[in-house]
Amino acid sequence: MPSIGIGLIGTGYMGKCHALAWNAVGPVFGDCPIVRLVHLADVDATLANQKAAAFGFSRSTGNWRDLLSDPDVEVISITAPNAFHPEMAIEALNAGKHIWCEKPMAPKFADALAMREAARKSGRAAVLGYNYIQNPMVRQIEKFLAEDAIGEVNHVRIEMDEDFMADPAEFFYWKSDASSGYGALDDFAVHPLSLIRMLFGRIASVTTDMARPYSDRPVRGGGRRAVETHDIASVLFRLEQGASGVLMTNRAAWGRKGRLALQVFGSKGSIVYDQERMNEVQIYRTGTAAGEAGYTSILAAPSHPPYGMFVPAPGHGLGFNDLKVIECRHLLARIAGEPAHVIDFEKGVDIERAVHAMAAAHEKRGWVDIEYD
Ligand SMILES: NC(=O)c1ccc[n+]([C@@H]2O[C@H](COP(=O)([O-])OP(=O)(O)OC[C@H]3O[C@@H](n4cnc5c(N)ncnc54)[C@H](O)[C@@H]3O)[C@@H](O)[C@H]2O)c1
Repeated sequence: MPSIGIGLIGTGYMGKCHALAWNAVGPVFGDCPIVRLVHLADVDATLANQKAAAFGFSRSTGNWRDLLSDPDVEVISITAPNAFHPEMAIEALNAGKHIWCEKPMAPKFADALAMREAARKSGRAAVLGYNYIQNPMVRQIEKFLAEDAIGEVNHVRIEMDEDFMADPAEFFYWKSDASSGYGALDDFAVHPLSLIRMLFGRIASVTTDMARPYSDRPVRGGGRRAVETHDIASVLFRLEQGASGVLMTNRAAWGRKGRLALQVFGSKGSIVYDQERMNEVQIYRTGTAAGEAGYTSILAAPSHPPYGMFVPAPGHGLGFNDLKVIECRHLLARIAGEPAHVIDFEKGVDIERAVHAMAAAHEKRGWVDIEYD
């Protein structure tokens, strides 16, 4: 049985999520190389050491570049804050490693292009952490669309809201720093954009309004600091295929915990999905008697692959971390040169292009056409 050596940068929210995925992908799917958890890096060497023991990695370091020179590391998971993605990804690709990099690609568009260039030159797999496209119920939406179940799509409405930045008393941290990007656009809008990219194709034009609910935040240790990012963004868009759309994101939305709500309207029906109810999708089809017209709810089941690899019983449900396990399996497929359902650095640049066009539209106070290469 072949094996593959893993390096991981970062041990926070996503660091743990990647570690869990690397631990689970073999047992869940049973058809991939044996995963060797080799080397874990965090800027804090003591934390790296503790987390290496907890996650099952053989060695740890306080310097992420140690992973680049480690011959046992073949793939590197990058889960450090956004500003580090370009240098980490480019140097790792140049060192011959495959990359699994968290979204967004980079705060600056030029850096995203440089990452894509490094991936092209290296010939290595370079996959982004757009886990929501992996939900079996999102794949079911894809199937509905391919089967023409709701006819021609003419309107898409998508929202992403959470409340982890809703409290004005919350301390300033890297997500309020301009080095992380625009704010809700890079942090949140990219996820809806990943669904749009996979389900409906590219966006042609956008207009945007960004908002900052709190102008400053307390700093841990004393004082206050001006917030440099926008936690709210409202976007109107037009798809290349012609449909109109609305994208709204808010990471200061009290009461919303993990909302990624999609409504798709077509000429003979509609589809409704929300990541907060991630094991369910609803479809409305025309053609039923008026008294029986309504949405049909479908619960996740083994008939929605790869649900059955996790649990054989329908309606029991997958969770957020399971999406990362599925993403990990697709990354391994891409590394093996097999078909893979992923957003790689090529598609990732399309998403970055849309994000920067949205920010430009906000500055311009008008519509911006997106030009693709
Ligand atoms: N795909 C998703 O659903 C999802 C969800 C949350 C976050 N993210 C993305 O994951 C990334 C990390 O976010 P998070 O919420 O896990 O952040 P976090 O703050 O919880 O973790 C960041 C980790 O990176 C480490 N770190 C910082 N600088 C470093 C350096 N120079 N070298 C090595 N390690 C360093 C920190 O010590 C920490 O362990 C971001 O890019 C974010 O956009 C993705």
